[in-house]
Amino acid sequence: MPELINRARRLRKSENLRALVRETRLAPEDFILPLFACGGENVRREISSMPGVHNLSVDEIGREAENAYEAGVRGLILFALPESKDEVASGAYAEDGIVQQAIRKVRSSVPDMVVIADTCLCEYTSHGHCGVVRDEEVINDESLELLARTAVSQAQAGAAIVAPSAMMDGQVGAIREALDDTGFQHVAIMAYAVKYASAFYGPFREAADSAPAFGDRRAYQMDAANAREAIREAELDQSEGADFLMVKPATCYLDILRTLRERFDLPLAAYHVSGEYAMIKAAAQKGWIDEQRVMMETLTSIKRAGADLILTYYAREAAKTLASNR
Ligand code: PBG
Repeated sequence: MPELINRARRLRKSENLRALVRETRLAPEDFILPLFACGGENVRREISSMPGVHNLSVDEIGREAENAYEAGVRGLILFALPESKDEVASGAYAEDGIVQQAIRKVRSSVPDMVVIADTCLCEYTSHGHCGVVRDEEVINDESLELLARTAVSQAQAGAAIVAPSAMMDGQVGAIREALDDTGFQHVAIMAYAVKYASAFYGPFREAADSAPAFGDRRAYQMDAANAREAIREAELDQSEGADFLMVKPATCYLDILRTLRERFDLPLAAYHVSGEYAMIKAAAQKGWIDEQRVMMETLTSIKRAGADLILTYYAREAAKTLASNR
């Protein structure tokens, strides 16, 4: 038998040895937890397609933020399920809108938490589209005004970061200008730069009651088949003043994360979306997979591909798992 000089197994012999040569490490600060705020008090309504995730009234949002902070999570992204919706998404930029209230609540109960506000209109429009609709078409430039207004009102409520997710052309530039004009130069923009028209958003649309009433989002969100276009989207957002870039969803788009990591120096976020979470939960509930291990393996793969930050419904659980492995 020939002498084997190179043996890869030498470095896998014990857990401590494996830890010494580990290339990718997750930390609690990598995770951003999405929360869904709703009206009422003491409301904690589980989203049926997302076990463990709830619609939370503003008071409950405060408690959830405290628990997450305790577990090591340092960032939250807030969404809303407003009481009423209309054609022009009034709830998105109302001073006492649900998200605005939730932002204030988190700022007062956990002042050190980094509060991110998702900036979109679909949760607030009666038709469920991410912009202003006329003749069944989403009108880009009119939507920009409303998105900019929304971002300013979120900044006024105390958001440190706004995260435009409507996929309107020019939204980052319009929001930057509006924030600067109103004295919010310090508020950062996390651009959903590369957001695909994905079936993995299904459970989220239950949580935010935001499924489009007609048609779909393919005329503004990206085609899953396109990779070069992702670079173009990221370049546009960078040139408009984005402080972070994001790729969404995460696991089906690890190649895109890798490409963006190599071509851009901005912090890169990945959104491990509702459907990705729901699939792990469902398989685990059937006893077909080990949830803890699949969760950590999935999050590790997203970081290994190039993400600095991961938006995930598993943020708290993953942070706790990391703490217990110490
Ligand atoms: C708002 C928005 C969506 C998600 C994040 N921001 C829904 C959509 O585009 O339909 C999806 C998040 C998830 O699925 O977890 N536009």
